[in-house]
Amino acid sequence: MANQPARNNLAGKNMVTVFGGTGFLGRRIVSRLLDKSVDVRAVSRHPRENKLNDSSGKRPSRQIKADILDPSSIAAAVAGSRAVVNAISLYVERGGQTFERVHVEAAADLAAASRDAGVEIFVQISGIGSDPKSRSSYIRARGRGEEVVKAAFPGAVIVRPAVMTGPDDAFITTIARLVQILPIYPLFGEGRTRLQPVYVEDVAEAVSRLAAGKYATDASIFECAGPRIYSYRELVREVATQLKVRIRLMPVPFAVWSMLATAAESLPAVPLTRNQVDLMRRDNVAANDLPGLAELGIQSRGIEAVVHMIERQA
Ligand SMILES: NC(=O)c1ccc[n+]([C@@H]2O[C@H](COP(=O)([O-])OP(=O)(O)OC[C@H]3O[C@@H](n4cnc5c(N)ncnc54)[C@H](OP(=O)(O)O)[C@@H]3O)[C@@H](O)[C@H]2O)c1
Repeated sequence: MANQPARNNLAGKNMVTVFGGTGFLGRRIVSRLLDKSVDVRAVSRHPRENKLNDSSGKRPSRQIKADILDPSSIAAAVAGSRAVVNAISLYVERGGQTFERVHVEAAADLAAASRDAGVEIFVQISGIGSDPKSRSSYIRARGRGEEVVKAAFPGAVIVRPAVMTGPDDAFITTIARLVQILPIYPLFGEGRTRLQPVYVEDVAEAVSRLAAGKYATDASIFECAGPRIYSYRELVREVATQLKVRIRLMPVPFAVWSMLATAAESLPAVPLTRNQVDLMRRDNVAANDLPGLAELGIQSRGIEAVVHMIERQA
């Protein structure tokens, strides 16, 4: 069973390998693991020039260059690990990098390579709303990814975050910037989609506890969401209130957003993607019957503090 303390075949191993360890979530998972005195390898295609450290800045991780699409580099990266975390993202399809290739096939390859290497704990980062039957190719790939990982690595743990917030996020930061410059704020549809934004550090702590084997659990899926559910409309108003900005809201049909996103995806720095629009079409809140942050002993934090962190950085 996954997420039990290390057994004999892994005695002495205290290495966690984090694929996507330089990303928005991944680098925080790395830091939280280092805080727990775990040895960490952060894997990405473009290692950072700066070291990835624990929160005191004293314990560095090892950074490894590998591509999840290259099976030989996967095997080398996972060798000797007690736990592996897959925190790789793909938000826009380009050439051979499709949602199916990255979120399904490569996730299965990583889980199988981890199983073959004797890894004891495998944590797959997915997302709330993942659905193998969805009409959206992105949401479907996330759901299929969960299925193939569980098949390749029995006992794998799936962590599904809600939309994540933090000082360098792509969500609240964008809303905060736009409410300050736009006279009228365009909503996704009527702005009724319900969201439960979660602070990225809380998700990182949850993943680090699971990957470090700090929690013996039989649960195979955790949904990590924040303390409050907002409609998108309420969320924009809350950000504006926190920033002391008056805002007028304007509904914009989803069909218009889809057209804008299709055009935006051809830009070098993509400001809006079709999968973001797809995700905004349906509620994105944690299921009541699945464990989450509270079951891992974490008290989730709201968006107010995040808005002020973003404000201070601006
Ligand atoms: N952000 C959110 O609000 C949110 C919400 C729910 C779920 N999630 C999920 O959480 C996970 C992490 O998302 P994130 O926002 O932290 O992603 P991110 O900031 O885009 O980071 C992605 C990481 O993956 C690495 N990577 C990408 N392709 C790779 C490849 N082929 N081989 C090796 N490394 C690769 C990137 O480094 P290189 O580019 O240098 O390789 C980077 O370290 C994803 O599964 C995402 O779907 C995110």
